[in-house]
This record gives sequence, C-alpha cells and structure tokens, in this order.
Amino acid sequence: MVVEYDIIGFWTEIKLSIIREYASAYSSILNSKGFYHVYIDAFAGPGEQISESTKKLVAGTPKIALATEPPFQAYYFIDLDNAKVDELNKLARNNTDIRVFHGDCNKSLLTKVFPNVLWEDYRRGLCILDPYGLDLSWNVIETAGQMKSIDLFLNFPIQDINRNVLRRDRTTVYPGSIERMNNFWGDSSWEDKAFSSKGNMFGYKTKVDNETFALSFKRRLEEVAGFKYVPRPIPMKNSMNSTIYYLFFASHHDVALTVVNDIFRKYRILGAG
Ligand SMILES: C[S@@+](CC[C@H](N)C(=O)[O-])C[C@H]1O[C@@H](n2cnc3c(N)ncnc32)[C@H](O)[C@@H]1O
Repeated sequence: MVVEYDIIGFWTEIKLSIIREYASAYSSILNSKGFYHVYIDAFAGPGEQISESTKKLVAGTPKIALATEPPFQAYYFIDLDNAKVDELNKLARNNTDIRVFHGDCNKSLLTKVFPNVLWEDYRRGLCILDPYGLDLSWNVIETAGQMKSIDLFLNFPIQDINRNVLRRDRTTVYPGSIERMNNFWGDSSWEDKAFSSKGNMFGYKTKVDNETFALSFKRRLEEVAGFKYVPRPIPMKNSMNSTIYYLFFASHHDVALTVVNDIFRKYRILGAG
C-alpha cells in the first residue's frame, strides 16, 4: 500500500521544532534522574511529512522522537490508516523498542499504552496528541491528567471547531459535529464558553474570540483533567494570520513548565503567536 504524505505549512514545522526541543530536554532530564521514560505518539502518521516550502520530506513526530538523544526506553506509535501503519512497522523492524498499534488511539491508549506508564512503577511518558480535527476523546486527556506520569502536547483544532461546530447559525450544525465536540470537550459545557449569553440584533448568539475559547479549554485541562501546569497555548497561524490550531502543553512538573515556557517564548517571538 502506498502512503500519502501530508504536506505541511510553516506553522506545522514550528510545532515540530517545539516538540523536537522539548523531547530532547525531557529525555535528558529523565535520563539523568534514572527514570524509565517512554514516548507516545497517538496520531502518529507515517513518520515523515512533506514541507510545503521546500517540497522535501521532513521528519514527522515519530522520526523526531527516534532521533532524540538520549533515547527513550520505548516508543508507542498508533495510527488508523493502513498505509501509515505499514511505514511505522518498517521503522519498528530495526528497533525492538518500538511498538506499533493499528486502530483508534482513543481505545488503544487506554487499554494498551497508558498501563505501561504508571506513576507507581516509576515510569514517565511524553505523549503527543496531534489529530487533524475533533478526533480525540476527553477520556484520554482526563486519564493522562490523572495518571500524573504523563506530559502532553495537544493539538486543539480551532479551525475544525469554528467551521463545523461554532457556526453563527446554530441550525446549520450537524448533530454529528456536536457529538464530536462533546466527545473532545468531555461534555456539552463548551457551548456556554463559546457563546455569550445575549443574542445580537439579528438573533444570533455572539461567539467569543478564539483565544478566550482556548483559555476555557486550558482551565478544563487544569480543573477537570487535573494537570498542575498548563501554560498559555501557542496559536499556530497560517500566512493569512488565521489560527489553524492551538498547541497546548500540560504537565505535573514545575521543571517541565520552565522548559516549555522557554521554548514557547522563543517561538512566540519568532511569530508563532
Ligand atoms: C496530523 S496527522 C499526525 C502527524 C504527526 N504528528 C507528524 O508530525 O508526523 C494525524 C494522523 O492521525 C491519524 N488518525 C486519525 N484519527 C485517528 C485515530 N482515531 N486514532 C489513531 N490515528 C488517527 C491519521 O491517519 C493521521 O496520520
């Protein structure tokens, strides 16, 4: 089966740089403390992507993790797509530390992956949740938060949300989109956060801005999932200055927060928002 590589804009290359820098610092710190630490890529893709600017293949998150020094003790890669899983299996042929799962990560994370990263077993994990859209279940996020052993990067797909869920004319929203949003958010409380209570002069509810909505999700990561540290997310913007997604980070460790704040600050200065 022939894999189709995704073509990625510069904002996604910024995300990859952020993950590369954090993975390196994370692995060094945990290695120096003697922790068994793993890398988890739930929406892994085939390992590489095509840069829109250079037209060349660049390492995606799985290959970035594999190149990280010092190495992780285990790598868990999950994808739904047959051809992408074939590529991931090729990576696993030469590396017995890689485990590849084919299927919906919302299930395999909970049943096959997270049980290998328990706090009480002195294990720690860096988990990347990078869906295209609203394909992630809150259950996964909340479980990761409560495990306390997991640091998370999470793609909050605001473009998909705006297009399909937060439409001004609520009668045009498909019930399936509402269901996907409830599943991502964990319940239907997003509706109160997304719209101000008063309608405007045309009878439509007024939508809050993207940043305000993303900050409501930040509070949810803290207050409901129980992550201790969730910095302000980075808006990943395209050349039209439109935010495609927010990159969130969540952790239980103050050192992780310090490291990620330094990285986020650098990329905010470079214009990532
Ligand atoms: C944005 S891409 C990931 C790119 C990757 N993080 C990288 O940097 O190379 C999202 C991937 O998620 C996969 N996917 C979509 N829904 C999924 C699900 N429920 N479980 C696992 N993988 C899924 C898609 O096949 C696609 O490869």
